[in-house]
Amino acid sequence: MQIGIIARYGTEWNLGDVEPVTLGEGNTPLVPLPHLPGEPEVWVKVEGQNPTGSFKDRGMTVAVTMARAAGKRVVICASTGNTSASAAAYGARAGLTALVVVPEGQIAPGKMLQAQMYGARIVEVEGRFDRALALVREAVATHPEWELVNSINPYRILGQESAAYEVVDALEGAPDWLLLPVGNAGNITAYFRGFRRRGRGLPRLVGVQAEGAAAMVLGRDLEHPQTVASAIQIGKPASRAYAQEAMETSGGRFLAVSDSAILEAQQALARQGIFVEPASAAPYAGYRLLAAQGVFRPSERVVLVVTGNGLKDPATALAHNPIRSVRWDGADLARLEALI
Ligand code: F0G
Repeated sequence: MQIGIIARYGTEWNLGDVEPVTLGEGNTPLVPLPHLPGEPEVWVKVEGQNPTGSFKDRGMTVAVTMARAAGKRVVICASTGNTSASAAAYGARAGLTALVVVPEGQIAPGKMLQAQMYGARIVEVEGRFDRALALVREAVATHPEWELVNSINPYRILGQESAAYEVVDALEGAPDWLLLPVGNAGNITAYFRGFRRRGRGLPRLVGVQAEGAAAMVLGRDLEHPQTVASAIQIGKPASRAYAQEAMETSGGRFLAVSDSAILEAQQALARQGIFVEPASAAPYAGYRLLAAQGVFRPSERVVLVVTGNGLKDPATALAHNPIRSVRWDGADLARLEALI
């Protein structure tokens, strides 16, 4: 049995006769939210169900497969956490060394733990993601046997196109709107290309950013991006130009949401059974903002891309949702019944 997205799309992508490095990524569920009269139909693309808990695995399988086929020995990336977890896992699977460079003290503990468990070498640098990425670019410029696996690697973007194909297949055509979080701006570029390659319509692409890290919304880079959504705490989106084109060509927009709106959206999604990390709640916060402005028509179809699993960042969730339990000395059925 063949698993993973290279088995499914490798021929279409002309990857050649390569041995896939796969963990069974892709094929994630598109879950409908309860439909309320007068509101559009909303689906959630649950990318946290990929092997390392984020959408990065779709691109990483292709980037690491091609790196190994080209004889590279090391995969290296800068990361706000998810790319490093994914690079570490696929690097391990491929028998390559993974070297991950992250901003010190800015990574959710679950993601650091993943990189550690998968056996990556971890470097923490002072400053933000953008600084880590600059170091990584410098490193690959002097080490031809090292492969950069950030989304500036075209194979990462190619692999991530697969999510758009899955949405088109599930809905039998493109939705009217697609909302997703934007950090380094690779994923919005991938969806744009994916919908175009499928040729069954292009949704309005809405890139949702955190207010404190809204480099696309503001149209300029930021030195000190700051948000509770650490995954998208990025000041200089590497794929800015592509993302701008995706937004403009599709008739979409960039949108900023506050940290408190992100945390409220995270809780609201969890109450629907979908627990995502803060960055991944941004599209739902954005949806609520636009819905309140009457932007969507009832006949329209809206897809929210939730990019990472909630268990990656338990610290943030716990800080805002302390465990509320009751503690009893003995088992007491009557008191148990009284809770309901
Ligand atoms: N959502 C999550 C959970 C992410 O981890 C990221 C990016 C994004 C959204 C934004 O995607 O960068 O393609 O616009 N995380 C990267 C990382 C930067 O290092 O894990 P983007």
